[in-house]
This record gives sequence, structure tokens and C-alpha cells, in this order.
Amino acid sequence: MKILVTGGAGYIASHTNLELLNAGYDVVAFDNFSNSSIESIHRVERLTGKKISFYETDLLDKEALTDIFSKENIDAVIHFAGLKAVGESCEIPLKYFKNNLSGTITLLEVMESFGVKNLVFSSSATVYGDPETVPVTEDFPLSATNPYGRTKLMIEEMLRDIYKADSSWNIAILRYFNPIGAHESGEIGEDPNGIPNNLVPYIAKVASGVLDKIHVFGNDYDTPDGTGVRDYIHVVDLSLGHIKAIEKLQENPGLVTYNLGTGVGYSVFDIIHNYEKACGKKLPYVIDPRRPGDIAVTYADPSKALKELGWKAERGIDKMCEDTYRWQSKYPNGYKSK
Ligand code: UFG
Repeated sequence: MKILVTGGAGYIASHTNLELLNAGYDVVAFDNFSNSSIESIHRVERLTGKKISFYETDLLDKEALTDIFSKENIDAVIHFAGLKAVGESCEIPLKYFKNNLSGTITLLEVMESFGVKNLVFSSSATVYGDPETVPVTEDFPLSATNPYGRTKLMIEEMLRDIYKADSSWNIAILRYFNPIGAHESGEIGEDPNGIPNNLVPYIAKVASGVLDKIHVFGNDYDTPDGTGVRDYIHVVDLSLGHIKAIEKLQENPGLVTYNLGTGVGYSVFDIIHNYEKACGKKLPYVIDPRRPGDIAVTYADPSKALKELGWKAERGIDKMCEDTYRWQSKYPNGYKSK
């Protein structure tokens, strides 16, 4: 079975490529390298001893996408490609609407024209907005608090409409909570451009001395220690969820939606302390004001994915921090490291 992975050189995609290859799937991938490197493709090939059929292409380039579909016999698509910086999306919303929405429409048109109607879509817990209670189940009300989140929500709505109009599509919408960690080998991991927006990549840069201190965004939330609580999930567990979703599509399930999280919430201080354990040193931090748009608490109820996919996150917070640290120590400057 041949799987097309869009945004195939990115963080979650690279770990998913590895698991797909290990599970015996053929992988075709494309990326425009806007926030990724060809090196992740090479490393996955080295780790698995298998080849990825790779194209340097933009999601908006319909001709190039058509060319890939005509050359490769694609059975299903895992659609990761998209911009994901919340802050940037508030400053340049059109860029997000163009890339994420037009890009996805282009992909769906090409898929339809080739009769490929099996899709796994990277959605996000952001579609729950600020949930009234936790844990969050898939039937909670949906809303968006920023343009990035709105693109995820709009794509979900698009997919539900497409499925309503044509039930021969099989679509798995996966709502990720907070992916962190890296492959155990330390050879692939998260490598954001510039100063990281997200907590764990930021902590990793402080631990390796690239940045001088952690900024804790608010310690006055209504949470046990006052800092924000999230459901951090190991990227390898998340990737294995995609393999289960691809298996599910083969049963012709129609449109299905799953939370991919652990069901456990950790605060910012919990994460800092666990990372300190992993790297064996104290990490300096300061308390800053709350970051606009942040919510106090969210974590998943992942029981639907267990029941219907047979999937459950296995890797705990210690392993998430240890694996991040291994990757960060081996390659302090990510894929650009010598
Ligand atoms: N935080 C800090 N300091 C930092 C960065 C983050 O204290 O330097 C805090 C935040 O306030 C929050 C927690 O750490 O409480 C996690 O923040 P992240 O930026 O790592 O993650 P978010 O939960 O804000 O966002 C992530 C993804 C989004 C996605 C969202 C879904 O980045 O793409 O989860 O809930 F939409």
C-alpha cells in the first residue's frame, strides 16, 4: 500500500514516515521545506534501510501535485502540510488562509480527480477552543480562538461537507494534543525555525545553552501550581496513531474523528522539572505575563481511539523529556548541526 505524506519532512511527518516504512508501507512524500529539512528524509531512510519517494513541491502547486499522483499509485494520503504558528497567524492571517485552506482544497481536488478518497487529516485540540470542562471528548463544541485554529476547524468542516456529499470518501480526522519528544535514536526530532514558540522546544534550547532562560507565561491560572496544563504526547505514540488510522481507513469507516492524547495533564512547572531530571541540571526561568490567547487547562479523553483504533499512548513524560534531550544534545542546532 502506498501512502502520500504531505509536509513529509516535518516533525510529526518524519516520525510517521519511519513507522509507516517499518510497518511495510511504501511512502511517497513532498515538502516545500518552509519549516523543515531534507535531512529528516535521509535520516529516516538510514534508520529504516528503506527509500522514500520524495518530491520538493508546494501544496499550492496543483500541477506538481497532479504530476505526483500520475507517477505514483497512491492509495491514501496523510495530510500534515500546513503553517502552525499561532502568533504569526494573528499577524498575517491571509498567509494562513491561503496556505492551509487553498492548499488543502488543491490537494482534495487532485485526490478526487484521481479517485483517491482515503485521507488522514492532522487536526488539533485547538478546535475545542477554551473547553468548559476536561477531559475533552470528540463531541465537545468546536470553536477557534485564532486564525491558525480557524484553518484547522474550517478544514474539518470542509471534510465533513465533502463526506456528506460523497460517502465513498474515508476520512480520519486526528486531533492532536501537544506533541513533544523525539525518536529514541536521537536522529530525528523537532527542529523549528528561529526562536521556538512552543514550551518544550524552548526548554530544550535553554538546556543546551542556546537560549538563557525559560519564560513561564503566567503563574496565576486556576490550576494546581498556577501554570497552564496541557496533554503532552510523545511524537512516536502520535505517529503510531496514524498507522492505526490508515488501518482503520481500510475498513471503509466513512468519516471518523479521534483525539490523540494521553488523557493526563501536566503543568509548565511539571514539564520544566521533568526536563531538569532528564538533563541533570537546574534550568533558569522567569515568570512572564500570560500569553494572549492561552487557555488554562486542556487534556484529552482518548478512550474513543482506544475503543475504535486499538490505540493508546504508551510513553510517559520521563521518556518524552529524555528523548527530547537526547536529540537536542546530539544536534543542538537541529538538522543544521554538523
Ligand atoms: N508556555 C510557556 N512558555 C513558553 C511557551 C509556552 O510558559 O515559552 C506555556 C503556555 O502558556 C502553555 C504551555 O506552555 O500553558 C504549552 O504551550 P505550547 O506553546 O507549547 O503549546 P499550546 O498548548 O499553546 O499549543 C499547542 C500547539 C498548537 C495547538 C495547541 C492545541 O502549538 O498548534 O497546542 O491545544 F493548536
